[in-house]
Amino acid sequence: MKLNLSKSGVELDSAIQSEIMAANTLLHNGQGKGNDFLGWVNLPSSITSAEIADIENTARELASNAEVVVVVGIGGSYLGAKAVLDALGNNFDHLLKKRSAPIVLFAGQNISEDYLSELMEMLQDYSIACIVISKSGTTTEPAIAFRILKEEIEKRYTKAGAAERIVAVTDRSRGALRTLATQEGYKTFVIEDNVGGRFSVLTPVGLLPLAVAGVDIKAFVEGAAAMEKATAEGVSFEENLAAQYAATRTKLYRGGKKIEILASYEPKLANIGEWWKQLYGESEGKENKGIFPASVTLTADLHSMGQYIQQGERSLFETVISVDEPNEELVIKKDAANLDGLNFLAGKRVSEVNRMAQLGTMLAHVDGGVPNIEIAIESIDAYAIGELLYFFEKACGISGYALGVNPFDQPGVEDYKRNMFALLGKPGFEAEGEELRKRL
Ligand code: PA5
Repeated sequence: MKLNLSKSGVELDSAIQSEIMAANTLLHNGQGKGNDFLGWVNLPSSITSAEIADIENTARELASNAEVVVVVGIGGSYLGAKAVLDALGNNFDHLLKKRSAPIVLFAGQNISEDYLSELMEMLQDYSIACIVISKSGTTTEPAIAFRILKEEIEKRYTKAGAAERIVAVTDRSRGALRTLATQEGYKTFVIEDNVGGRFSVLTPVGLLPLAVAGVDIKAFVEGAAAMEKATAEGVSFEENLAAQYAATRTKLYRGGKKIEILASYEPKLANIGEWWKQLYGESEGKENKGIFPASVTLTADLHSMGQYIQQGERSLFETVISVDEPNEELVIKKDAANLDGLNFLAGKRVSEVNRMAQLGTMLAHVDGGVPNIEIAIESIDAYAIGELLYFFEKACGISGYALGVNPFDQPGVEDYKRNMFALLGKPGFEAEGEELRKRL
């Protein structure tokens, strides 16, 4: 992985370097805010081969039982697996006729009646299994989806059969999902207390769904471990890419750039953007501070958001994930009639055109006052995506400390839950419910 900061317009002086290196140290010595949630820092290097083997064996069993595996979860218990799966899968995965792994679908990330009804209807044509993921074990969205899926699985395969087709990933001892899993005899994996949801992609939360889909999770973890080493305490600022990225975005923010747009020119990376938005949004957006994380997929969004990026409010900077080498090769052919006027591209690979679109856009945006950071990965594979995700996690922890917030809590997400429970008449929320209904 390479980081190109030459178009960021930022000078990384010694003051910011020492501030950022001090923030990195806090992640290692546990002296910073939220220090009971630092389990993710050494996660890649501490996963054992026995743990990987357990995940792979469980994934094989689920895969042998089902054509479709539904992964139930929301937020940090959903976005990592979804992002990596999309990045490493075929763009048209669900339409592939020849498959070596089950189709992996997601539920519990919304409360849409249409989504759940259509899912249940579609599943009638397939054998099914389910991975239910909730660290707290009490989140409403996945709990509703799981109740519906569990009933269907038990109806089809009996209660005993369901225990072979349902795996739960949850807290070691607390929460409704832990109680339910114990009672029903499900295989379980633990999310440790010291790993927050949005930092959990390198635990069974991410690894189990990925292994079911046939992803090489060893390579994914190895990539992350390489980045863990490359950003560890003691690595100099000049060598530490996560520190440099954190320093650059911190200086841009302090200079008035309040919005960071994560862009990529590969549609299969779109959900890396969704994962990244949760990571940075929940970690930094508090105490009336923080960069607002947005994302675009280019060149598609140049035909929509491109106008704003080029000429709208000048509070943006752009971070582009570029890919040096695509996995496939497709050359544009010469056409005798040339009615579309594209013969000047004949003989070029589609990726060359994409690259020129990227470079042209970068210069146009920089000229328009949008500083640019480029994160270049060699190719889209499990190792590179592991590196990339850990890089973002590390830079997020550093940035959060540089901002002065606790990057590992999310007090703000509780407010909507309280209101929803009150409006739904959950026992214990009666008085709040009455107050809220008067306001509607
Ligand atoms: O980052 C977080 O902690 C949240 O986004 C959670 O992952 C999300 O709310 C889901 O929580 P849980 O896994 O407890 O169901």
